[in-house]
Amino acid sequence: MKAAKKVLIAYATVHGSTTEIAEYMAKLLGEHHFDVTTANVETLESVAGYDAYILGSAIHAGMWLPSMSRFLDRFEDELAKAPVYFFVTCIRVLEPEGEQHVLEHYLHRDTLERIHTRDIAVFAGKLRLDAIDLRDRWTLALRYDGSHAPGTINDDYRDCNIIHDWTARVCSALDKPAS
Ligand SMILES: Cc1cc2nc3c(=O)[nH]c(=O)nc-3n(C[C@H](O)[C@H](O)[C@H](O)COP(=O)(O)O)c2cc1C
Repeated sequence: MKAAKKVLIAYATVHGSTTEIAEYMAKLLGEHHFDVTTANVETLESVAGYDAYILGSAIHAGMWLPSMSRFLDRFEDELAKAPVYFFVTCIRVLEPEGEQHVLEHYLHRDTLERIHTRDIAVFAGKLRLDAIDLRDRWTLALRYDGSHAPGTINDDYRDCNIIHDWTARVCSALDKPAS
């Protein structure tokens, strides 16, 4: 019997909703018989030995998190050797043309191209204002570039069907023999 493909799901989070998405994806990949490891990017000392990577970050102030930037800088050469799939969680995607805006302005395209990213997903995240501290609220109020006034977006907007469908697409791409 062939060994299961090894997939690393590495995520960057502040308030935990991206972690839960990563864990949900891991469950789905496990059901497809992949051998999955899920880890916060801040804890990873190596990314060697995987057949594919799924990387995900929350968006703060119009960019993926600094911990994801550090991770990508550190492991870029290794990541480029296997298929990479990338997702972000944010709230801008809830606005008209939001997905387009996120894809054009919130991602560092050169970095994603250098690691040969095969697909990018933009998921609606979770934002509960009562769960974030005053400093974060100020960052959000000052730097959020959408038209919704801060405070009007205050809920869990994650859609498990959308996350499920993207993960299923990744699974079937990974199931195909390497070309
Ligand atoms: C301080 C702060 C800044 C944020 N900035 C943005 C932003 O610029 N654009 C956006 O679409 N979402 C922004 N968000 C929303 C987060 O991306 C969203 O809540 C995400 O689900 C958080 O993921 P986490 O729970 O894994 O940290 C911000 C949230 C916080 C708390």
